[in-house]
Amino acid sequence: MTTTESRTALVTGASSGIGEKLAAEFAADGYDVALTARRRDRLEAHADRLEAEYGVETHVVTADLAEPDAPAELLAELRDRDVQVDALVNNAGFSTYGPFAGSDRATAQDMIQVNLASLTDLTHRVLDGMVERGHGEILNTASMAGMAPTPNTAVYAATKSYVLSFSEALAHELEDDGVTVTALCPGPVDTELIAKEGMADSDIDNSDLNDPESVARAGYQGLKDGDRVVVPSRRMQALAQLKRVLPRKRVVSLAANQYEQYG
Ligand SMILES: NC(=O)c1ccc[n+]([C@@H]2O[C@H](COP(=O)([O-])OP(=O)(O)OC[C@H]3O[C@@H](n4cnc5c(N)ncnc54)[C@H](OP(=O)(O)O)[C@@H]3O)[C@@H](O)[C@H]2O)c1
Repeated sequence: MTTTESRTALVTGASSGIGEKLAAEFAADGYDVALTARRRDRLEAHADRLEAEYGVETHVVTADLAEPDAPAELLAELRDRDVQVDALVNNAGFSTYGPFAGSDRATAQDMIQVNLASLTDLTHRVLDGMVERGHGEILNTASMAGMAPTPNTAVYAATKSYVLSFSEALAHELEDDGVTVTALCPGPVDTELIAKEGMADSDIDNSDLNDPESVARAGYQGLKDGDRVVVPSRRMQALAQLKRVLPRKRVVSLAANQYEQYG
């Protein structure tokens, strides 16, 4: 039951990687957490750890965010449990590597649904309540890939551009409503996403990979500081600056080379 003192953060993609660590950041700060993803066993184990370590209340709801009805069903389930979403962390996402031509159509559609359509729908569905209460926090996991068109991960980069653009626009719209919106833009992070994408088999230099815990901590801190965009590493901050000033064609080549290095 939500009390006036308790706050609940709903974290999508909380079964591994950055989302798992983001949920821990919220719990460490005293938030109750609602964890969602597809893998129930992972979510339940994580919920048990957070309850034991931080004494917070946890809620586990499985959802496949590639399904268009999933955001409505997820929020209906939380409402049935009297859980109010005070902070929304839209973190679930996945990517693929390779040319768009010849790629699997269903996978591309799922990526668009998970990475941006469900994110938008969840935001839409919780936002009115946040505005009415005069308080709310939204943290969206975008990516450095969202800062430039990126060959060989064209759909993924475009979904992350959307997340970044959407987040910054909403942050501006909501600045007098007590609702903050932060976009977290990591570079490469050592998570299952890298392994699934096939990057783990490349000659990636492990020193380039950020650890998910420090990325989550930077995102959480940025949210609390009211930052609109958080780029966790200095190297990526420099790259982000470069992408702002170079001619667009150079930016695309740079993104292609950078991604080839990882892909
Ligand atoms: N790793 C990087 O280099 C990197 C860099 C920049 C941004 N990001 C972004 O960070 C976010 C988290 O990724 P990660 O790196 O932490 O990778 P990860 O460990 O693979 O985590 C992805 C999370 O998203 C969930 N997810 C994927 N498809 C889903 C679906 N159809 N429905 C519901 N949940 C789904 C996964 O849970 P289930 O499989 O249990 O459903 C998992 O919890 C993503 O948005 C990603 O784009 C990652």
